[in-house]
Amino acid sequence: MHELPSYDGVTRFWHPVLASSALGESPVRVTVGPRDYALFRSENGAPAALLDRCAHRFAPLSKGQVVRGRIECPYHGWSYAPDGSTRTPARGSLTNCNVLSMRVIERHGYLWIADAGTDESSMPEVRFGAPFEFMGAFSTLFEAPLHVCLDNFSEDEHTPWVHTRLGWDARDAGSVRFEASNFADRTEVSYRAPQRDNLAMRVFGISKGALFCNDWVTRFDPVRTDYTITHELADGRPSSLTLRAVIFMVPEGARRTRFQVFVSASDRHPLRALALPAMKPLVLALVRREIEDDARFIGTVAATPWSFDGMRLGRFDKPLVHNRTLLERIYLARESA
Ligand code: FES
Ligand SMILES: [Fe+2]
Repeated sequence: MHELPSYDGVTRFWHPVLASSALGESPVRVTVGPRDYALFRSENGAPAALLDRCAHRFAPLSKGQVVRGRIECPYHGWSYAPDGSTRTPARGSLTNCNVLSMRVIERHGYLWIADAGTDESSMPEVRFGAPFEFMGAFSTLFEAPLHVCLDNFSEDEHTPWVHTRLGWDARDAGSVRFEASNFADRTEVSYRAPQRDNLAMRVFGISKGALFCNDWVTRFDPVRTDYTITHELADGRPSSLTLRAVIFMVPEGARRTRFQVFVSASDRHPLRALALPAMKPLVLALVRREIEDDARFIGTVAATPWSFDGMRLGRFDKPLVHNRTLLERIYLARESA
């Protein structure tokens, strides 16, 4: 039997935790693995993160306020600088009472945190360069453990049942083409299937008879999947629009997972490419609704055990098995049992 992992130690990797714009004058609590962190801005506006636990009697610092660049505990007023050093109202600076300080970087409109001393060069690559244009990012909470979310995002077989826009209908399940390749550091997957006809697709010029093409790569330092979605039109031409969604799956404790989703798009049609900035809300809404479909369903399978023992896995589940191995070996830094 596998206990669910607590995801202790995963902050040796960079995780996106909050939109930069969501951190103003008040501190904000975020969670990565088993620990909560209090994010706040120092006097020069630079983001900082401390363990969300006062050194005195463990009150959450995120419930306090920021005073001249220090975060002040709401209980007895001890305050902490971005490096975690402590000052108390009665005794001034205290040594040996520091709170754990994390490294924070602001990038792609997001705040990313990792253990102090983690090198910036190990930030995961989120490619938004030409021809892609950044559409925006959003966050969605999944009420299920990371391994359940990862399994869900490692197969498209659930598409006709859980989704209603992108992808195929149940009657086309027999004509789905699927390939998966396992590598030491990643899994690559591709699906080809008849795109179901619906209004949302027509808005993007994808009409009846198009082929849905979904290619993705899943990596584990930290856990994220980079999806590329295109269509082949009924006459065999590729559609001009390409959607990219890089989805970070951040464990919040053992039983919840926060998705941080970065969306970009490109359009090979010169005129439509010009219109792409105006399409941002529509593109974001399309991706967001797909992910919310998964989030709505995931509670139904949240109790799925860690082990695949006893499950009758099918061909579409090949990436799940490899991903579980990589989740253990890379993200959890342990050998598979
Ligand atoms: S618990 Fe924070 S100052 Fe007392
Ligand atoms: Fe899904």
